[in-house]
Amino acid sequence: MDKFEYWSGLPEVGIVPRAPHVGPLLQHVHEQEHGRGGFAGRVSHTYHLYPPNNWLPGETRVLEGWAPLWESPLRPVGGAHHALGVARPSAPRDVYRGMARLVANATVAMNVTAPAAPMDYFFEHHSATLVIFVHEGGGTLETLFGPIGYGRGDFLIVPKGIPHRFECAPGPQYYWVYESFAGDPEKSEAPTTGHFITHSRSDYRFPRTLDTRNEAGRFEVVSKVGSVYTQRMHPTHPFDVVGWRGDYLPYRFAVEDVRPLTADRSHVPPSAHTVFTLPGCYLCVFTVRSVEKEGMWLPFFHRNLDYCETIGYHWGDFFSRGGVIQEGMVTVHPVGLPHGPQPAALQAFMDGQRPARHQEVGIMADFANPAQISEYALGLSQPDYMKSWGGYTTDPRFTHRPERLAEVRALAERLADARDELRPRRDTP
Ligand SMILES: [Fe+2]
Repeated sequence: MDKFEYWSGLPEVGIVPRAPHVGPLLQHVHEQEHGRGGFAGRVSHTYHLYPPNNWLPGETRVLEGWAPLWESPLRPVGGAHHALGVARPSAPRDVYRGMARLVANATVAMNVTAPAAPMDYFFEHHSATLVIFVHEGGGTLETLFGPIGYGRGDFLIVPKGIPHRFECAPGPQYYWVYESFAGDPEKSEAPTTGHFITHSRSDYRFPRTLDTRNEAGRFEVVSKVGSVYTQRMHPTHPFDVVGWRGDYLPYRFAVEDVRPLTADRSHVPPSAHTVFTLPGCYLCVFTVRSVEKEGMWLPFFHRNLDYCETIGYHWGDFFSRGGVIQEGMVTVHPVGLPHGPQPAALQAFMDGQRPARHQEVGIMADFANPAQISEYALGLSQPDYMKSWGGYTTDPRFTHRPERLAEVRALAERLADARDELRPRRDTP
């Protein structure tokens, strides 16, 4: 072998200088730094044909009322659970003009969009890194670093500030979009389960194909800072990048690659299904998995005392919901308010009707208190959701009986020596 090959210590694609800020190439291409943490955090460099600041003088303006539902006012969640119906936009709008806020706290917001019109502009979110879950649809996410193909069941992570554009494939599109205002999503790992449960960093797909555009024209870029949307126009295509280097990058992560933790003899808590942590929020994926063989396979009644819980129902049976939830809906369970299985699901558990698998995919995002709900979301709220637990007040199996206490005492005595089947035997001396 007369030629050895090497990896660089940082991902890089295309034409780049020997190191950032170094070498004669920089007299011929224009380096741009995308830096977090005041240029001391995660960073990437892109190398451009034309200066990134070549906006047309006098053509920068604030866009009033550009994405009105994205700014839907926030209200206290209060002490009632909500099940939000599927959003049905009244008019075809693109990914961002049609964005609608659902829930938010100080550092994270959850939104929904059902785009049905093309994006004729490029978008930069200057206040948040976006975590987008594709509930329905697909297409190509065009980014400064290259295109990323995506489809149903994919997460797309678009770091704060990165110019991008969605080229949606034909057909319905429906995305849940999480904005992280205070930091990028971190891969969730536990010391006891290591790097590969629930997924491996190698499951992330970063762009590697450069699609350099050397085009002249009028190219619109819309940025969002807080609630202000600003348009600027450039005379060259923003994706004029001939190379890049760094680890501040957009990427795709497929729910299919979540390999969940399961347990035979105990209930796996929601926290074990966390895939990303964000400041003020954690994001979990409940996916297809074996049902616990012994112990509680149904979610226990619980109250989350520090977080408002949301679940986006992507696919499946949604076993604990007793048939009240349809795909595409979102539940909002406020901080502190107890919840758990609907009566039909609990009856199945009590009767020992254990299925072999949890056939479901749900995306849970829990928001540190105080969290609020938007007026738009309240408009989607199904009036009967709180009644879905009503069987606990009418079904004789759950309602008051004078002999109940004596029955439970007798049962407890009978079951006192019950042991798991899956256990070490004690019959050896
Ligand atoms: Fe919950």
